[in-house]
Amino acid sequence: MCGMFQRRVLPRIVVLASGNGSNFEAIANATQKGLLKAEIQALLVDRECFAVERAKRLDIQWIRLEKPWNSSLTKYLERLKPDLIVLAGFMRILPSEIVKEWQWKIVNIHPSLLPAFPGMHAIEKAYNYGVKVSGITIHFVDEGVDTGPIIFQKALEIKRDWSLKKLEEEIHKLEHRYYPLVIQKVLEKKWKIVGRRVILEEDIG
Ligand code: GRF
Repeated sequence: MCGMFQRRVLPRIVVLASGNGSNFEAIANATQKGLLKAEIQALLVDRECFAVERAKRLDIQWIRLEKPWNSSLTKYLERLKPDLIVLAGFMRILPSEIVKEWQWKIVNIHPSLLPAFPGMHAIEKAYNYGVKVSGITIHFVDEGVDTGPIIFQKALEIKRDWSLKKLEEEIHKLEHRYYPLVIQKVLEKKWKIVGRRVILEEDIG
């Protein structure tokens, strides 16, 4: 009888950001729409950034990491015990202890088709290189810079007349659409590892 009234507990995620926070907001919107069945426990930031303004508007707890930021991060992760750590424009390399402790529980999004253009300013680098196809990559985090096992990629053809600004807009649209969907699959454990390959059980989009 009691079981009928038990509330379903949603998986819990924390989002780490350092900048604009548009991916954080897309994830938050997806949780509100039920596209992503998860609860955002907190936004963690390592600096003053616009993502915090979004958290305030969305009424989501936000935490500014103290210095030294990596022990502060460890402390909050131990306290929050999230099911998944979501990097969304977090401008720091996670220390190897955190990466090891949370293996397969940290995801990142990168605005290029990795392994092309890792690191900062990926959209600009791809554009200036003159590639005809770019896209987004969502991957598990390992100890390298944008080197972890790839979960999902979406390619985007760069049209002849596109400006850098247009490419940025199109990349962000893809990010906002797909990051929540991929997070959902990861939380549902609808993936397996074969060698280095992450195989999703179902296609996304
Ligand atoms: C995104 O392009 C993401 O791929 C990269 O950093 C950017 C963050 O954008 N890792 P925002 O802060 O979510 O708007």
